[in-house]
Formats: sequence, C-alpha cells, structure tokens
Amino acid sequence: MRIQDQIAEKLNLVEAYTITDASSLEAFRLLFISKKGELSALFDAFKQVPNDQKKEVGQLLNQLKNTAEEKFKIQKEALEAKQQDGEIADFDVFLPPVPHALGSLHPLTTVGQEIIDIFTKMGFTLSDGPEIETDWNNFSALNFAENHPAREMQDTFFVEKNPDILLRTHTSSVQIRTMSTQKPPIRILSVGRVFRNETISARAHCMFHQVEGLYINKKVSFAELKQTLLHFAKELFGHKVQIRMRPSYFPFTEPSAEVDVSCSLCHGKGCNVCKHTGWLEICGAGMVHPNVLKNCGIDPEAYTGFAFGMGIERIVMLKYNIKDLRLYTENDIRFLRQFKI
Ligand code: PHE
Repeated sequence: MRIQDQIAEKLNLVEAYTITDASSLEAFRLLFISKKGELSALFDAFKQVPNDQKKEVGQLLNQLKNTAEEKFKIQKEALEAKQQDGEIADFDVFLPPVPHALGSLHPLTTVGQEIIDIFTKMGFTLSDGPEIETDWNNFSALNFAENHPAREMQDTFFVEKNPDILLRTHTSSVQIRTMSTQKPPIRILSVGRVFRNETISARAHCMFHQVEGLYINKKVSFAELKQTLLHFAKELFGHKVQIRMRPSYFPFTEPSAEVDVSCSLCHGKGCNVCKHTGWLEICGAGMVHPNVLKNCGIDPEAYTGFAFGMGIERIVMLKYNIKDLRLYTENDIRFLRQFKI
C-alpha cells in the first residue's frame, strides 16, 4: 500500500477513535502519540520516500500527527472537567448538616454558682480580693501564731520573703480586707481560687476553689450559724438532709466546728462515699475570734460574728461521686460532657 494511503487510513482511525474515560484516553495516547506507537512506523517509512514526493507526504504526515495531538488534548481536558463536575455532584446537598457541638459550663462553675445563689438569697453579698496576698491578710490578722505550721514553705507558696507576699491559702483574707474597710453589719461571701503547696494526687491539689461566708453584727449567735448551714445543706443536697457539728480548731474562730451533712447517697445507712459513717464533711465554721475583730478595728465587746468556709471541689465530688480531683483540670471531654445541662 502506498504511504499516502496508509496515512489516510490512520487518519480515519484517529478521527473515529472514541475516548470515553481515562483508560481509553491512555490507549489512544499509546497508539497514536507515543514514540513507540503506530505513527512512528510511518515516520520511519518517510525516510524511504522518493525526493519528489517528500513534500506531499511530509504535509500529510504532519496533518495526521497534529490531528492526533489535537484530539488527545481536547479529550484530556474534557475528561478532567467532567471529573471535577463529578466530584461536586458526589455531595448530596440535601443531607442534614453535622450538628455543631456547643460547649458547656464546668461543674465547678455550675455548683459554685448554685452555692452562691443559696447564700445570696439569705442576704450575703459577694466580696472579692486578690490571689496574691500579704502575710497580714492571709495569716497574722487571722490570729495565726508566728510559728504556725501553715506559714511554712512546704504548705504555702511564697512570692517574696521579708516582708512576706504569698499566694492566698484561703479566701479568709477577703474577710480581713472587708472587715478592715467596712463597718458592721457585714454579711459577705468570698469565692475564689486558693493555693497550697501540696503534691497533686487524687485527693489533694495545689490549687482549688473556696466559698467562705462571714456575718458580723450585734449579738450574732452560734445558733444562727447552725441554722444558716442547715438551710444551705437542705437547699444543696435536698430537704431530707441533716447536719452535725463536731468540735474543731481554727486560729480565727472560737469555738470552731467541722460541719458534716448526712450522706445524700445512702441517707445515713452507710456506703462507700461516706466510708460507712453516714456522714460527709462539707465545711469548717465557727464564731469569729475576738482577736480577729480587734485586728480589723471592730470592737469585740459590741460585735460578734460567725464564719464558715468550704471547698467547691469537695462539694462537687460529694454531689456527683467524683473520685479524683485531677479530673477537674485535665479538660478530658469525656469527663466534662457528663455535666452538660
Ligand atoms: N479558712 C478555713 C480553711 O481554709 C475554713 C474556715 C473558714 C473555717 C471560716 C472556719 C471558718 O480551711
């Protein structure tokens, strides 16, 4: 067959070739574009073409090559465009969206707020103070003896020594600030972070939160303290709970007591949470020591008062039966999710 006819035949093949997908495009490329393909045999044969026909045959060959290359380019672009369309079409625009999970309040925040609400309904107002305190506001004014163990480096974080500046170890320091600047009657609640130099474990942390209350007026009695705490316990743990007070010691209160609430889980029968005693310790309390009133410029002959203090972490532990203090600060979403309201 003449080379001109062979070229015409290949041109027909190129034009008739149907490309529908990536594999037929690749087959076309191997057949008509690649150096090892069918057209290169024709280019080899071109060398034997007599000189007088070279111009004509050359033109035909070029036309065939261009047609194949043009077809390949157009089909390749068309296929790519189709693929992109296909990807978009893969989305079902009518599917409902994945819900956007909202965060929730930390249990220390919700229970802390619950405690605040109970006391503010009884007439207590919030009073605030700094976390970095002087020795006077945190210890001396509260009647801590010069050699009291709480003043040791192992128990307290000192920022500076002589004069001593420290991270407050309780929010009683706010009570000193308030009593030193306001005249009785005083009825305040101080809430906030406190720090103690403890090794972190399931039962102890170097940072926790306290709520402390203080009431100073003429003729404030221990009976009023007891009634205030009983009302608080019933509001927080339910109306069936009882409280009991055990003698205790704090430098800033006299007499002092440790306050227990009857176990709200076993109702006094005894369980693991109350260690089979039927009681859970919730706070310390007592009548404000006359020395503390004097240190703040309040006449202990004219005024008396009571104070109480509790750890929010401990109350949340009792309320939800949490066994490890560290869970509060680890930010494990599985822990936090359980308290979503
Ligand atoms: N400040 C005490 C503490 O941190 C708690 C307390 C407050 C006890 C008021 C009695 C009266 O342990």
